[in-house]
Amino acid sequence: MKRILVIGGGSIGERHVRCFQATQRADVSLCEINDDLRTVVGERYELKRSHRSIEEALADSAFDAAVICTPAHLHIPMAYQLAAHGCGLLIEKPLSISQDGTDGLIAEIAGRQIPASVAYVLRQHPALQAMRACVAEGRFGRPVEVVYTGGQHFPFYRPAYREIYYARHEMGGGAIQDALTHVVNAAEWIVGPVTKLVADATHQLLEGVDVEDTVHLMTHHAASTEAFVMGSFSLNQHQAPNESTWTVICENGTVRFEFHHNRWLSCTQPGSDWVVEESFQIERDELFVRQANAFLDQLDEKTGPACSLAEAKQTLRVNLSALKSVQSGAWENV
Ligand SMILES: NC(=O)c1ccc[n+]([C@@H]2O[C@H](COP(=O)([O-])OP(=O)(O)OC[C@H]3O[C@@H](n4cnc5c(N)ncnc54)[C@H](O)[C@@H]3O)[C@@H](O)[C@H]2O)c1
Repeated sequence: MKRILVIGGGSIGERHVRCFQATQRADVSLCEINDDLRTVVGERYELKRSHRSIEEALADSAFDAAVICTPAHLHIPMAYQLAAHGCGLLIEKPLSISQDGTDGLIAEIAGRQIPASVAYVLRQHPALQAMRACVAEGRFGRPVEVVYTGGQHFPFYRPAYREIYYARHEMGGGAIQDALTHVVNAAEWIVGPVTKLVADATHQLLEGVDVEDTVHLMTHHAASTEAFVMGSFSLNQHQAPNESTWTVICENGTVRFEFHHNRWLSCTQPGSDWVVEESFQIERDELFVRQANAFLDQLDEKTGPACSLAEAKQTLRVNLSALKSVQSGAWENV
């Protein structure tokens, strides 16, 4: 059993408590600053230990790893504090809200050989994994374009959005840092890192906040030294359908991942129908349990990180460049 400290017992922290417990490979403790929430979550999951602060937790017990589930502006300072105690790190997305301290943290965890990963959970989706493997193997030839369209009604899924980090850019809020970052990280994982971008984003509909809830992004991805992939992404947080589709157009065929149908498809003959390649039944917690197991495997030195800090830093640069481009109205190098 690995001793896991979940820091922040809010929406995603509670899910990590539940999903790490579901692996039956983790003895989970909670660190939550809010007394009422700490008590509620501690009782709900019958936790043996819960703590008010990281200092208190580290003074009381030793942990194999921590899962950082606080708002994004706290991720880097908390990660430094935990790394100093040799704790492994699973850090929620986005890695941070600026690049400050990120290189130092990456050097620190490399120097101390601390297992660390960033919780871009889409990387656990078996349909996305399978589609990515086929693209990487070259079954459809070289990728040339990636297109994402999607959205969901954020107030329906997260009624408290006005009161949480989401309402403020400096805490990791807004559509670019909160939702689009998942989408871009998945795309970078398939077709390579974004090298330059131009973004348009605005607040259209969500009541009680003024951060952007609608984003359009155009990208170039470095596929190789000679070739690049063109990308376009359109995302909103107010449409009724909860849909997310990534399409990767390759030289000899097009592939598509439909998150909302848990499947991937291909189409290789002009004018022909899509062929469903693989479809999965995925329960709501399943990707998070897979993520927990992948991280526990990493702690057991069986695997590398599902998303390294360096990869998450690249996606952080995309977030920051997109926010800059919205202001400047210009292409930005990432
Ligand atoms: N991977 C996903 O699908 C996913 C989903 C939601 C949120 N997130 C990310 O997870 C992070 C947290 O999001 P959330 O929705 O759970 O937010 P939340 O506001 O529901 O929870 C954050 C919790 O952290 C606690 N906290 C703040 N400072 C603390 C401290 N110093 N010590 C201990 N606890 C402290 C707060 O009291 C709160 O309960 C964000 O970075 C967010 O982007 C990821």
